[in-house]
Amino acid sequence: MSRDAPVDVDVHPLVARRWSPRSFTDAPVSPDALQRMLEAARWAPSCFNEQPWRFLVADRSGDPEGHTRLGALLNEGNAWARAAPVLVLGATLERFARNDRLNAHARYDLGQAVAWLTVQATHEGLFLHQLAGFSREAAFGELGLPDGVDPVVMLAIGHLGPASALPPALEARETAPRRRQPRQAITLGARWGQPLT
Ligand SMILES: Cc1cc2nc3c(=O)[nH]c(=O)nc-3n(C[C@H](O)[C@H](O)[C@H](O)COP(=O)(O)O)c2cc1C
Repeated sequence: MSRDAPVDVDVHPLVARRWSPRSFTDAPVSPDALQRMLEAARWAPSCFNEQPWRFLVADRSGDPEGHTRLGALLNEGNAWARAAPVLVLGATLERFARNDRLNAHARYDLGQAVAWLTVQATHEGLFLHQLAGFSREAAFGELGLPDGVDPVVMLAIGHLGPASALPPALEARETAPRRRQPRQAITLGARWGQPLT
């Protein structure tokens, strides 16, 4: 089943091919591929090159307890993500190391690191689903996060499974047409409200 983005103009195949599945097979992610994904994230640009993100990674093959610990943070609506062989918590450092001031761009930088990780994952033939639906409180309690660390997002990473393996409601979402706002709605000229010509 291809769910490539029905793009209006041609884009790189890695962009078109990426989507966020809920069905993952049991197949493990190769440790080398996982390292390449984390390396891709490491080379994302960031404000003052501070790299204010931290990835807490649990590969079920090597760390089943850690995988269970991360999976337990997920909201029940995201319980399907526990099937993914690799779970990651993405967190930010709220303050710049250079001057201890609040880093207003830390979450932006984390998002960009995840984007690079996602491109590499797609290149590896893997799929990734980003998840805001998890308990931040439990993340602090269960993972020993110190003050100044902000748990922002979780990632489920693995090999694409069949939609038919999901319960009916999730299967319908898995196969629904992919939608985006028109490019004109989210792209403006150099003044608010001015269309880009
Ligand atoms: C920051 C962020 C948080 C998300 N949280 C969830 C989530 O908790 N549960 C979920 O099923 N999908 C979640 N998603 C996935 C989005 O719903 C998905 O990316 C969007 O519908 C577009 O679909 P696509 O990624 O397949 O193109 C999240 C995505 C992002 C970027």
